[in-house]
Amino acid sequence: MEKQRLLEECQAKASQCKRCVLWETRKNTVFGKGNPEARIVFVGEAPGYNEDIKGVPFCGKAGDVLDELFSSVNFKREDTYITNIIKCRPPNNRDPLEDEIKACIPYFERQLEIIKPAVICCLGRHSLRYFANKFSLKEKGSISVLHGRVMEAGEGLFPSMKIVALYHPAVAVYDPGKISILKKDFQVLQEI
Ligand code: URA
Ligand code: SF4
Repeated sequence: MEKQRLLEECQAKASQCKRCVLWETRKNTVFGKGNPEARIVFVGEAPGYNEDIKGVPFCGKAGDVLDELFSSVNFKREDTYITNIIKCRPPNNRDPLEDEIKACIPYFERQLEIIKPAVICCLGRHSLRYFANKFSLKEKGSISVLHGRVMEAGEGLFPSMKIVALYHPAVAVYDPGKISILKKDFQVLQEI
């Protein structure tokens, strides 16, 4: 329960946050949701339209794809913890700016510090870029090269953590044919 309490404390701060301009247009801060004791954390990019309204990560179409991927490997969403690199929706779902990521990342790092997961899954290029920079990953390349790969965090905040690069579920919203690649990549989660 301690983890739950610490997360709630951090969430309360984020809900009042004005560290970047996105506070002006958000309806809700989307802090994250799931099991504070989770061994696996999924991190997307930023809240979209539905997430902004409900305050819950991955609750729109990309969330439906994510649920399909979870069931393909017999994961329950409630056993995981899901969040995003930035906590407020960028207007018109534009890409988050470097300054916004920099302003927001302490919330995510605090979430990791509290949860201490064994595995982090980057959903898409923005979260992968953050980890590539943070941990100086040996593996170089974009998400289209690294998707499905399990990497070691090495030196850094959480040395024994594994980092898995995965395509963003929205990829299969725009191109349903891609779901088979996403499902194949998710299989590695069963192995680790
Ligand atoms: N896309 C994301 O990256 N995160 C969400 O929470 C929803 C859609
Ligand atoms: Fe604060 Fe992050 Fe929201 Fe910006 S995106 S206002 S840093 S919580």
